[in-house]
Amino acid sequence: MNPTDLFLANFQASLADGSFRKLTMGKFRAGLEGVKHIYVRVVALKNGTRLNFVRRYSDRDLAQNFLISEGVTLVRNWLGKSSLTATLFTIDQRQQILFTRRGNPRLSVGPAEPVEFQPAHDRKKLHLLGDETFLRHLGLLDACGGVIKGRSDKYRQVHHFIELLAPVIRGLSAEKRLRIVDMGSGKGYLTFAAYAFLKQEGYNAEVLGVERRGELVDLCNGVAGQCEFGGLRFEVGDISRVKLEGADVVIALHACDTATDDAIFRGIAANAQLIILAPCCHKEIRPQLRPPDELTPLFRHGIQVERMAESVTDALRSMYLEASGYSTKIQEFIALEHTKKNLLISASKNAKAVDQNLLFKKAQDFQALFGITHHRLADLLRLERKF
Ligand SMILES: C[S@@+](CC[C@H](N)C(=O)[O-])C[C@H]1O[C@@H](n2cnc3c(N)ncnc32)[C@H](O)[C@@H]1O
Repeated sequence: MNPTDLFLANFQASLADGSFRKLTMGKFRAGLEGVKHIYVRVVALKNGTRLNFVRRYSDRDLAQNFLISEGVTLVRNWLGKSSLTATLFTIDQRQQILFTRRGNPRLSVGPAEPVEFQPAHDRKKLHLLGDETFLRHLGLLDACGGVIKGRSDKYRQVHHFIELLAPVIRGLSAEKRLRIVDMGSGKGYLTFAAYAFLKQEGYNAEVLGVERRGELVDLCNGVAGQCEFGGLRFEVGDISRVKLEGADVVIALHACDTATDDAIFRGIAANAQLIILAPCCHKEIRPQLRPPDELTPLFRHGIQVERMAESVTDALRSMYLEASGYSTKIQEFIALEHTKKNLLISASKNAKAVDQNLLFKKAQDFQALFGITHHRLADLLRLERKF
């Protein structure tokens, strides 16, 4: 038997007899460029035993689970072609295969070594999303799982969104049933990510993306079909009119200008438990801003006015949400160097009633302090509540 076949046979045998501890691969090329290491281990999941592959890139880890037979096939396909070295750690041996530049394999065998499943130098946290196949279909990842050139900001945004979503969503429904509506879903990266995450967490999730551009809706429905994401669909519609009955979570990420206010208003009217927003451009407030005399040093230059307009708009959104019975939190969504539009507002429905009239009055007084006569969210709420 040649060294490659022997190594693969030992790998398979160790999986079969339970002596397998870990497999690492290195020296990548041809299809795995950019990968620094691959770590393979056995994981016991609800639906059975799987081989967990962690591909370590310089800036992130990508984890995927495969059936044992699929995982063995992957290793077989890569060994000697895309990866020029691999080490198999079993209970009683350490076997290393190394390919020379001419492609000749050399196998060396040594005594067993203690195995740390998470390598000691693992400083980077694993992404919360396990299977990222949908990102390949959406054009963020290439066939080998590498981020397509120029798309790393969006890739990071997807993961950061899930990191922020995970703690607020967990525990929202004891029966693990959630209906989410993503308003202004665009190309659907974050809608897909939310659905994939919920599915992975065992939720019975129904996720709807609402988007006014028909071509994006068709594209997203096509990808949802390819991924067999049965609970995810997209429809052409307008944020201000789409039916929202029964929505537990309303999301609006970078929906343009006052479309964010429409989404907030619709979420409140639908009694959503959670409303998550990343505000986009803020055009409504800036021309109306008339700061009080004491604050004029903050409004002397155009850039200051720009920033204050954003701050005041989002502070008002937060105050009107609180007046509507929500607790709000404002966090950084994406690092500032990637985009100016980097806030995420999350609003969770309060269990206890609040003095809504008092909070509305506070919000209105704050609005009046800056001479603002029209704020879309306030106007919509005023019309409905007649305050
Ligand atoms: C900047 S993109 C953001 C897309 C996506 N939410 C994301 O964060 O990747 C905003 C999307 O909202 C859609 N949009 C804006 N106003 C809308 C409205 N009133 N109704 C439906 N879609 C709207 C736009 O067509 C666009 O695709």
